[in-house]
Amino acid sequence: MSANAEPREGLVIGGHRFVPMIDAAAIAAAVGRLGDEIRASFGNANPLIVCVLNGAALFHADLIRAIGGELEVDYLRVGSYDGGMVSTGRINFTAAPGTSARDRNVILVEDIVDTGRTADHLRRYYQHKGAASVAVAALLYKREADITGHPPEFLGFEIPDRFVVGYGLDYQQQGRNLPAVYVLDAGGAA
Ligand code: IMP
Repeated sequence: MSANAEPREGLVIGGHRFVPMIDAAAIAAAVGRLGDEIRASFGNANPLIVCVLNGAALFHADLIRAIGGELEVDYLRVGSYDGGMVSTGRINFTAAPGTSARDRNVILVEDIVDTGRTADHLRRYYQHKGAASVAVAALLYKREADITGHPPEFLGFEIPDRFVVGYGLDYQQQGRNLPAVYVLDAGGAA
């Protein structure tokens, strides 16, 4: 199997079995739709499209091409998961943004909104920095897990409160390079 293959039968990471949830074609279609939506809302406003590393790296790279036109990019890193499967609730910048957000239309690009703490923290941060507007674009959203009640303005897929990997998302830093999204098998162990 090549490095870029999409294992349709599932795979094992760190002793846990993951099964297919969203294939690469469905992701590409969602990214195209989100690009259209963002261009329709902010296409003439030179928006600042902020990648929340590490998980959003693939989604951000595809999304900015789908949006097209005049835009700027920035990158930041926030840590809250400590490599495991349960959110610790702690949030800290491990790489700070490099571009002023004052009077900018900011779109925070996240791989997934789970508890919503990261998105909430970053919305407040950019509002505090004087952004003209702040919106969130997320590939995935676990509505059941969201404690903020604030869904992403631009959303790829709503999913159940289950652990997923692939297309940027990791389990113990593995699985980010998978072209599709996989969910932890209900049975758990491999
Ligand atoms: P939140 O602050 O709880 O919304 O969590 C956001 C971050 O937690 C995401 O950007 C991911 O890095 C990580 N995360 C949440 N759910 C999952 C998952 O199912 N798999 C992998 N990482 C996840």
